[in-house]
Amino acid sequence: MSTLVKYECLQGVALIAINNPPVNALSHGVRNGLLDSIRRFEDDEGAQIAVLYGTGRLFISGADISEFGQSPQPPHLPDVILQIERCDKPIVAAIHGVALGGGLEVAMGAHYRVAHGQAKLGMPEVKLGLIPGAGGTQRLPRLVGVDNALKLITGGNPIDASDALQMGLIDRIATDEDVSVAGIAFAREIVLGMGPGSRVTTQPGERSQSTEVLPRRTGDMSVEPASESAMKEWRKTLTASARGEIASLVALDAIEASTTLSFAQGLQEERRLFSILMDSPERAGLIHAFFAERKVAKLAEISNVKGKDIAHIGVIGGGTMGAGIATTALLGGYTVTLIEKDTPAATAARSAIENNLDGAVKRGKLDIALRHQLEKIRLVTSTHYHSLADADLIIEAVFEDMDIKKQVFQAMDAAAKPDAILATNTSYLDINEIAACTNRPESVLGLHFFSPAHVMKLLEVVVADKTSPELIATGFSLARRLGKIAVRAGVCDGFIGNRLLTHYRTAADHMVLDGASPYQVDKALTDYGFAMGPYAVADLAGLDIGYAARQRRTPFRHPRERHPGWADDLYHEGRLGRKTGKGYYLYSAGSSRGAEDPHVEELVAQTRHEAGITPRAFSDEEIVTRYLCAMINEAARLLDDGIATRPSDIDVVLLFGYGYPRRKGGPMHTADQLGLPAVLRNIQLFAQDDDFFWQSAPLLEQLVAQDRNFNSLN
Ligand code: 3HC
Ligand code: NAI
Repeated sequence: MSTLVKYECLQGVALIAINNPPVNALSHGVRNGLLDSIRRFEDDEGAQIAVLYGTGRLFISGADISEFGQSPQPPHLPDVILQIERCDKPIVAAIHGVALGGGLEVAMGAHYRVAHGQAKLGMPEVKLGLIPGAGGTQRLPRLVGVDNALKLITGGNPIDASDALQMGLIDRIATDEDVSVAGIAFAREIVLGMGPGSRVTTQPGERSQSTEVLPRRTGDMSVEPASESAMKEWRKTLTASARGEIASLVALDAIEASTTLSFAQGLQEERRLFSILMDSPERAGLIHAFFAERKVAKLAEISNVKGKDIAHIGVIGGGTMGAGIATTALLGGYTVTLIEKDTPAATAARSAIENNLDGAVKRGKLDIALRHQLEKIRLVTSTHYHSLADADLIIEAVFEDMDIKKQVFQAMDAAAKPDAILATNTSYLDINEIAACTNRPESVLGLHFFSPAHVMKLLEVVVADKTSPELIATGFSLARRLGKIAVRAGVCDGFIGNRLLTHYRTAADHMVLDGASPYQVDKALTDYGFAMGPYAVADLAGLDIGYAARQRRTPFRHPRERHPGWADDLYHEGRLGRKTGKGYYLYSAGSSRGAEDPHVEELVAQTRHEAGITPRAFSDEEIVTRYLCAMINEAARLLDDGIATRPSDIDVVLLFGYGYPRRKGGPMHTADQLGLPAVLRNIQLFAQDDDFFWQSAPLLEQLVAQDRNFNSLN
């Protein structure tokens, strides 16, 4: 008998417990164990009814995702669930924590469902590039109707127990803390004919205890088809929002099949569609992203290190980033003291934070009463550094200028208590140099937030030469509490994300110099799946940022570096992007969608003319290839330099901070999919025209020579 699924019988009730920590995934062993337990229950004359539940913190998290991509081992989940459903004695699923994907499919195969009040139920498969593949697309519409099933399956977001009860997905919300106890109580009521007892057949004259209790099978229920116009509307909405992802549209097909085919045929159709998606690159990319996201916090240097306790956070500078950082800290439950250089700036910062909090209330992320408490009690704005005396962590977010940062760090060092942590939000500057101007370099690190800091999920934890492991661990635990994903980065110009950005933006600038228009570049990349192209990104960040970075690098510029002269022209014309209503694009008041501007093309043409370049045409495919190859090549150098710990960390940075399409898994995963020899060949080909920019990274050459891929370094 399997140790992953335990069977016992207590006074007529069989208890089937899934015990596969940490999340009771339906691995091969669990499927086997479940099948054995169901057969044993069928044969167990002492058991009238069974309760199926999960041990640990949740019911079942779904199919075992780590088995995807390998050849599937029987028993297959759909067959296990059919065995549950076809069982001739009733089975109650008792759900706590979560029932997701295959987990909810198991519950729907059972004949009754009881859920703990805090439980979440959902079908997240589309987020992995899949559809439910163990009967979910056929049973869910039967239980909750086509419209609810479409919402749950194509949206992929879980619902809570009260909504599940309302739509008929579960039969009862359990009041007992221990859901197996609630399941047993419910099972006894059914046996006694007191449960949702209309389904219990009682022969006249029989005592209820000996009642034959018939299972209520979801597969035997009928589906009410949705109107043709409703389905058309769904297809339209899903096509518009799919952004190249196919799973939710395939889910629609599968759910539609539940209304036109028999249950058995519907299951077959679901299987067919599921298998197609299982073999898709979209599924591989999304699952790579799922695991990359979870691996990122696993670092040998902090495996046994506890972070410092942080209660009070100081923020210096209340501009774009400082106000956002203060907001996210308040939302994370911290006390915040924000320092600005004068009273008007402090007042402006407070009002920016108030606006951010109001936005959080509007989006349902913050309770209105708590909002006032946060702002009135938890937030102090001041112009005096001595207000930071109690802060456990102080994050600097002043202008991107080394001299100013050094002055600020010396003031922070003097004002902060001895064990306080000092952090900088710098985008590019040398954190070793900043740390060296304090008396506590081991207590200095980079905490690089992304704009808007209270919304974006990425946080680069930048580790300087003397940063202690305790600080790194603190950075990671801070990120968790803020609901963010931390990635470890080393010190260099731009850390992981901005160093890559600089490089692939340069590749884009070269294409524009040689004949592509910035608008074609942006369009080719958004068509590929990026949230934005590099020129729309520049407008969002502000063209002054790029200008300042170019100025800073001017003294070190190699004579062979090609210069995007038009970008300086735009800056000098006061076109700073969205904030001035004009940059690469023209923005009408209140709109974030920009219009193309022929004047920008004229400035570009002027730069080409001055450089003696005859423009040539670029295909969209070439644009994407050059952009990706530049990104991958520089990423390989980052790994070689030890700035990033592993390739999948780079994927996480690009996915969560730079709008890389999640279905492609990140640039390192994309490189593996393209094949590293092909990437290297392209780089060598591009080098025929510009062997200064297109120098292939030694690590890339090495991996190709060894016939390995980036994943082998994860
Ligand atoms: N299969 C395999 N491993 C899984 C898993 C799954 N379904 N779900 C989680 N894990 C692993 C994680 O990788 C992690 O491993 P690690 O400790 O080695 O890094 C560990 O379990 C804990 O996971 P989390 O860190 O995510 O734990 P949380 O408590 O934060 O969240 C959870 C738990 C809500 C269950 C979350 O893990 C989750 O959302 N899991 C995925 C659920 C899902 O997508 N289910 C559908 C699967 S596809 C399917 O069922 C197809 C079917 O229709 C045939
Ligand atoms: P900003 O110009 O919007 O804000 C800077 C603020 O610092 C101003 O409000 C200014 O009054 C204040 N300030 C300046 N000197 C000060 C001092 N001595 N004491 C107290 N306050 C002082 O700049 P932004 O965009 O917020 O950038 C801040 C830092 O964050 C920079 O290092 C930048 O590189 C970095 N960063 C910026 C991102 C962005 O998208 N804007 C993203 C990530 C990091």
